[in-house]
Amino acid sequence: MPVEINRLLETAKTRLASEKTPALLMDKKLIRAKYGEFRAHFSGARVYYAVKSNPHPEIIRLLHDLGCDFEISSLGELERLLSMDIPSRRISIGNPLKHPSLIRLAYRSGIELTAFDSLSEIEKLAALSPGIKVGVRLTVPNDGSEWPLTKKFGVEADEAVELLVQAKKSGLKPAGIFFHVGSQCTLASTWAKAIEKSWSVWQRATQRGVELRMLNLGGGFPATYLRPVPTVAEIARVVHDSLTAFFPKDIEVSIAPGRGLVGEAGVLAATVMAKAVRDGEHWLYLDVGVFNGLMEAVGGIKYRIVPSRNGPTRKWVLSGPTCDSFDVISSDVELPDLDVGDRVYVMSAGAYTTAYASQFDGFPVPAVHFVE
Ligand SMILES: Cc1ncc(COP(=O)(O)O)c(C=O)c1O
Repeated sequence: MPVEINRLLETAKTRLASEKTPALLMDKKLIRAKYGEFRAHFSGARVYYAVKSNPHPEIIRLLHDLGCDFEISSLGELERLLSMDIPSRRISIGNPLKHPSLIRLAYRSGIELTAFDSLSEIEKLAALSPGIKVGVRLTVPNDGSEWPLTKKFGVEADEAVELLVQAKKSGLKPAGIFFHVGSQCTLASTWAKAIEKSWSVWQRATQRGVELRMLNLGGGFPATYLRPVPTVAEIARVVHDSLTAFFPKDIEVSIAPGRGLVGEAGVLAATVMAKAVRDGEHWLYLDVGVFNGLMEAVGGIKYRIVPSRNGPTRKWVLSGPTCDSFDVISSDVELPDLDVGDRVYVMSAGAYTTAYASQFDGFPVPAVHFVE
């Protein structure tokens, strides 16, 4: 486990000692450091924080003060940013399929850029937000991604070119290409494949009279859970080499990290609330589960779970608190023999945890605490 995450674990043990669980501790120092890493290694690129990953106002304020821009998807996210006086020129809408109410408010408040990937979206944008700058969402390989974002979004290269041409005809300002290699992408080479594919669309659009200047590389930057993952520097090197190989120097590059920016900065403290043995399997029930914070556990994210005491371990089925058998965090976690009332810590829980959480079955969502 990286040394900063270990340090955060120790901080969480003392800082949350007298707090009710579930509780999420977010470390602002780690967010600042990670933002600095993105800034340093993607110098010249705009960094848009993907608000969906953790929309807590303190995180938005912190990143705003550091000079970060924001990537949003919904009316709710836009209203939140505007209510915090985030200037509209610092907001981009990465969702290619927007609710009309979002487009209306975006237009009124002067948002300059959005993604799209269909004729229907062009019609909507032309009617509700004439003249807005748009980028086509291109389908790219999601190799090595533990949370793929294929199928639901994006178009293949031929259609991307046609849509850019059509956007121009409809009075929109086609500006470039958006892609996303899938969240928690553990292969830096996947960005290289996506950049090469983007270049083919870029060239063909130019030949059709659509001059592009912006490439949004999306999110996908991984957080450390159980296995080592490529660093921001390693991914940036691959990106830099691919951009240099294909694109002119003066294009506008942007990235939209969510998980990679805030994931490692959070520790979720939970408490054992029950135990049982069923068919020879040992079950441990926590006060946090897939409904109130650990939704990604059912989609393939394997969290590091740290117990508050040591001892000989065995395999546990780790379950959430609700009366739903879907609420299982993992079916094979090695942990010591914990008792009701013992705490466990879920590491790298800063992204897509509280953002997803519901109060299903009456169990509370984690309270969020911060350390400077
Ligand atoms: C359009 C867009 N941009 C950025 C992100 C952030 O991705 P990640 O958290 O993997 O960095 C997402 C995640 O779903 C997204 O849909």
